Amino acid sequence: VIEPCGIAAPPFGWAQAAAEATQTATAAAERSHVSIRELDQLTALEGVSRLLSAIWKVEPSSLGLTIDLLRGLSMTGNYVAGAYRGDELVGAAVAFFGARHTIHSNLTGAVSAAGVRNVGFALKLHQRAWALRRGIATITWTFDPLIRRNAYFNLTKLGANAVEYLPNFYGELDDPINAGDETDRLLVRWDLLEPATMKARPDSLAGSGNCERTPSCILRVGDDGAPRRCPWTRTTALLQVPADVESMRVADPSLARAWRLALRDALGQAMAEGAKVTGFRRIDGYLIEPAVPK
Ligand SMILES: CC(C)(COP(=O)(O)OP(=O)(O)OC[C@H]1O[C@@H](n2cnc3c(N)ncnc32)[C@H](O)[C@@H]1OP(=O)(O)O)[C@@H](O)C(=O)NCCC(=O)NCCS
Repeated sequence: VIEPCGIAAPPFGWAQAAAEATQTATAAAERSHVSIRELDQLTALEGVSRLLSAIWKVEPSSLGLTIDLLRGLSMTGNYVAGAYRGDELVGAAVAFFGARHTIHSNLTGAVSAAGVRNVGFALKLHQRAWALRRGIATITWTFDPLIRRNAYFNLTKLGANAVEYLPNFYGELDDPINAGDETDRLLVRWDLLEPATMKARPDSLAGSGNCERTPSCILRVGDDGAPRRCPWTRTTALLQVPADVESMRVADPSLARAWRLALRDALGQAMAEGAKVTGFRRIDGYLIEPAVPK
């Protein structure tokens, strides 16, 4: 365990924080029947490239993470890890060191197949323990705020905090997941020593999925699937997102585009005005609170 200087040590010390995180990560991997290991050999890195290309439905040559980049990242002590079921690679994650004692997680992907669950979750817990062993207590990454599964995974299951709404962050990408849509992203910060992270947030922000019953619903899924906006009265508010925007991008690209603009307008604008995302309900969407007046 590396004891960093210049940042506050956790109350119970780095060694204990790292040991507990390692234990939690090992238990999660066991529950998912995977073994997670750091990778640096060429054949293993080629496997990572093939797996991530398959998850993003692109040719390995079109994946931004080329073999030489993976090789360079692993050789320089960054995080490249794979989750194996027996000999089969079923998940992978790649992250690198950032400024001010942080790690930036670039990609995490897990196969979606019957009986394979929580592999992405186990990988993130492995990444967390890896970071804490190096005296790092913050991991950042970005995700598409319209993808409800990922928003729930990041904000509720992992307990990461939404920091900033970034419009069209990567420009247009033409892989099938992004399907030519503008790449708005939510930047999240995972505070590895926060209680919410130690015990990922329960999905107990009770909700019926019925927008009318919540105090203020400023974005909702209309009966025709289209986004409906209401003015925000600067109270706690709900912003619904569609259940599966990835399929919508294929079936109805103009509807998906309308959702991109609607969420940018509602969530992006509210966050730019200082609103805080306080939760995400698996059944429908984001909960926000207005900025506290200074
Ligand atoms: C994001 C990802 C890594 C999570 O992996 P995982 O831990 O194996 O998790 P699962 O995919 O099994 O599910 C994540 C959670 O989302 C929930 N979920 C699935 N579809 C959902 C939806 N439409 N709305 C809300 N929640 C949904 C699942 O029920 C699960 O929660 P639970 O365990 O509380 O039931 C994985 O889904 C993935 O590889 N996605 C494609 C690549 C990607 O988008 N990566 C992230 C950006 S870098």
